[in-house]
Amino acid sequence: NDPRIPAIQSRIRVVPDFPKPDITTLLLDPKAYRDTIDLFVERYKTKNISVVAGVEARGFMFGPPIALAIGAKFVPLRKPKKLPGKVFRQEYDLEYGSDCLEMHVGAVEAGERALVVDDLVATGGTLCAAINLLERAGAEVAECACVIEVPNLKGKERLNGKPLYALMESHYRAVK
Ligand code: PRP
Ligand code: MG
Repeated sequence: NDPRIPAIQSRIRVVPDFPKPDITTLLLDPKAYRDTIDLFVERYKTKNISVVAGVEARGFMFGPPIALAIGAKFVPLRKPKKLPGKVFRQEYDLEYGSDCLEMHVGAVEAGERALVVDDLVATGGTLCAAINLLERAGAEVAECACVIEVPNLKGKERLNGKPLYALMESHYRAVK
């Protein structure tokens, strides 16, 4: 409903035969990119969030500036074998096969309030794994925040009851 959202939406590209909307075109427009970050910051700056967890790779394009602006730490949730320390490891299903996210043990302390950030929620498998990692560390996930929600894939139903905040919906046609 925010008047800034249509311009943000106009910068997101849906490429034929590419399985997910492309947010790199949004990053090319400094005003739209800043407005995107500001919308999240306005929502979360007074919500006592102590940790922003961003999902590799595209969650790294939105999570860090939000964390800095709200005075929270940033914790990367990484694809397998990228983190050098001891990790929590969480597998999740993809449309074809499975993938995995890892988070450093000790990055998040028990009782912290976390915001999970990614560019897009489709099936919800990625966010579900992210939530599990934070909860295994004893954190409370206050909300998941995405730029785009693909509502026909019902990702929201996989978030273990955690609230999802998305700036916009995008019905793109999934391709094989
Ligand atoms: C994309 C997107 C989300 C995820 C959403 O990531 O950035 O993280 O898919 O899909 P889901 O809700 O069905 O789990 P992807 O793993 O394709 O790669 P990237 O972020 O590393 O580019
Ligand atoms: Mg991703």
